[in-house]
Amino acid sequence: MPIEPSENWQDVHESDIEAVARLLRRGEISIVSGGHLARFEKQFAAFAGGRHAVATNNGTAAIHAALWAAGVRSGDEVAVCDYGFHGMAAAVRSLGAVVVPVDAEPLGLTMDPQDLSRAISERTTAILVHNPWGIPADYAALRAAAPGVPLVADASHAHGALYRDEPLAAHADIACFSLGRGKLVSGGELGCAVTRDPELHERMLVYGHVNRVPGDLKTLDWGGSAVGLKLRPHPVALVLALGQLKRYPEKQALQRGYARDVETIAGDLGLIPLRPCCAAERVYWRIVLGVPEGLAATPEEVATIAERLRRAGAALEPNHYWPTLQHQSLFDWEDHRAGIRRRPCPVAARIVPRLLTLPARVQPPADALERLRECLTAVLAGDDTRTTSPVSTGETPQ
Ligand SMILES: Cc1ncc(COP(=O)(O)O)c(C=O)c1O
Repeated sequence: MPIEPSENWQDVHESDIEAVARLLRRGEISIVSGGHLARFEKQFAAFAGGRHAVATNNGTAAIHAALWAAGVRSGDEVAVCDYGFHGMAAAVRSLGAVVVPVDAEPLGLTMDPQDLSRAISERTTAILVHNPWGIPADYAALRAAAPGVPLVADASHAHGALYRDEPLAAHADIACFSLGRGKLVSGGELGCAVTRDPELHERMLVYGHVNRVPGDLKTLDWGGSAVGLKLRPHPVALVLALGQLKRYPEKQALQRGYARDVETIAGDLGLIPLRPCCAAERVYWRIVLGVPEGLAATPEEVATIAERLRRAGAALEPNHYWPTLQHQSLFDWEDHRAGIRRRPCPVAARIVPRLLTLPARVQPPADALERLRECLTAVLAGDDTRTTSPVSTGETPQ
């Protein structure tokens, strides 16, 4: 039985279930090195454009290890996109560093290089770059804006996205991925950090897989300073992710086709799809559309449109990053009140409350696009009664 009735694509195949069963029959319920772990890291490093990968138990752990490897320590500052996920801030805060929000550029809501150059200080130790919904940031411009500061990509939405024809680990010092539930490639709970730099690789191993690498511990003079948390993943997650990685090119081609059709329909109705601001080929984890002031004068009117679309059956999701990062409740907690250096981010503040988010279907029913077109047309024209049957249903993503 499909998990989601409006989606015919299945991420988990019978062959994956058999592979997991074989694993369990052999009693392989934990893995320290080699086997599926080595296979996954090798394949994922190549997929992401790096030479080395460190698999972790989730994406937050990958970011955590990457920031530590990049040199982030207590009291440092990390520049983070204000249009970002709270887990990005959590990884910074767990190292005792301070989050410095950076505004978004208006086309794809990736980090604005000009605002980055204003945000950095002598305490900035790393830049944590979001690639929202699969849209790559402008890595060359960000590097130019903060020369010498390590760029850590949070590519949790952007499996397979290209910047200047190469995957993201070719441009960031470390590219981190969530392969959690519902991600483009998923192991259920899994993360991975990918780099081209052998030293950064070694540091991440020391941080997250300390008992895997006694040899590596001898390579550099770590003295007693290695932290040695255990961030390693479960082998079942690795097997599931390996299966999905194989089928991902087909999945993303289908998703891209559907998403571009939705964007054309939405564009014809006056909505504004997010798009890369640079030479990049995006992937689609979600389809995000801006509502211009001509269609809704205020954010409240946008929220009303979203509610009417939902009532008409569109699988419209919550506006995931509103309020933006610096206004999220994490920073109301006592331990984190001083963990943010708030800055005005006027572009994010203006655009983010005006967004509509739709799922990027892989194999929707044949009439899904036509029904979505009818639904959007009716609601935007103020004639919601023209839509009589639901467009689609869907799980609310995490
Ligand atoms: C942008 C971004 N970064 C990090 C994460 C954290 O990943 P995980 O849930 O695997 O820890 C997520 C999860 O949704 C995410 O969307």
